[in-house]
Amino acid sequence: MLQYITAKEAAEKWNISQRRVSILCAENRIPDVAMLGNMWIIPRNSEKPDDARKSKSKRCSDNAHPFVKWAGGKGQLLDVLKSNLPQGIGTKITKYAEPFVGGGALLFALLNEYSFDEVYICDNNKELINTYSVIKDSCDELIQTLDDMQSKYKSYADNEEKQKYYYEQRDRYNTLILNDDSRVEKAALFIFINRTCFNGLYRVNKKGRYNVPFGKHENPTICDKENLLKISETLKNVTMRSCDYHDVVNFADQNTFVYIDPPYRPLNTTSGFTSYTEDQFNDKNQIELAEVYKKLSSVGAKVMLSNSDPHNTDENDDFFDDLYSDFNVLRVEASRMINSKASSRGKIKELLITNY
Ligand SMILES: C[S@@+](CC[C@H](N)C(=O)[O-])C[C@H]1O[C@@H](n2cnc3c(N)ncnc32)[C@H](O)[C@@H]1O
Repeated sequence: MLQYITAKEAAEKWNISQRRVSILCAENRIPDVAMLGNMWIIPRNSEKPDDARKSKSKRCSDNAHPFVKWAGGKGQLLDVLKSNLPQGIGTKITKYAEPFVGGGALLFALLNEYSFDEVYICDNNKELINTYSVIKDSCDELIQTLDDMQSKYKSYADNEEKQKYYYEQRDRYNTLILNDDSRVEKAALFIFINRTCFNGLYRVNKKGRYNVPFGKHENPTICDKENLLKISETLKNVTMRSCDYHDVVNFADQNTFVYIDPPYRPLNTTSGFTSYTEDQFNDKNQIELAEVYKKLSSVGAKVMLSNSDPHNTDENDDFFDDLYSDFNVLRVEASRMINSKASSRGKIKELLITNY
């Protein structure tokens, strides 16, 4: 069984900064790392990776990649997702749909590699979709606005001033989202906040006001011009909707691949229904989603869905196995942990459900 050390211990062992260790983990440069809560943990016997900063891999620098850090983002699962794609992508399969797009880890990976006649993305976070659409249509203006914010933020010498600026920007964002105008400024603030807030979280209170605190990042990249321009180019023919996932059935046909990545079903529930809080994606929603999965399947679309595996915490919880009994339910390894107690069990499993 693998034994782990913390990022701090790895930093001391390799004589590099703790932040550098986190970057190496996030870039998949150290095999078998995992997340414990919001902390990276590293196998004790890992070798220090070469410093590849000067010759950054072509893949990283040449390709569009997510512009936000997003809860449930699938960057860590990309290799597994890519090795489970249906056959015929880019040939027979000419349309792609992602109805819970979030940060779009798989979206960008596919658009970098394949060309589709039609692409459809959707998310019920309307400010996220506004940002996608501003990157697509008004990228230069967005870069200018975001670059100004970055210069201002970086001009402050200490964290206290940076923090003050963060809260001013957060207030401004909350004013703008209520009025629903200034699309470009809102998008710039959306990215600014994501880069400087605590852990890249997006959370609003009951009144719809964004309320995540300041994040104390050492030197965040706020305006990644090169990536934004690439994304803008990549999204040129993409249809974007800020709506509920059900809308995807109007797009899909037998030439479509649909990737469905809903909010995770919480792992720590006992069998039975999760709570019915207003903004949670509960078991009732998962059951409804399975109906949409079946509908998509019946029109001949190729469908892949990911979720947490309830067997990680309760081997008798066959919620998804029962719900998707007509399809293939694969269990794959994920680079995330349930909680500190579970760390001794190593990596947890994630479900991939395909109809092909
Ligand atoms: C697990 S995240 C997707 C992560 C994404 N695959 C990535 O790589 O970043 C789920 C997304 O679904 C969105 N969402 C939640 N409920 C939804 C609904 N009913 N319809 C559409 N999108 C929804 C959330 O806003 C969130 O962005």
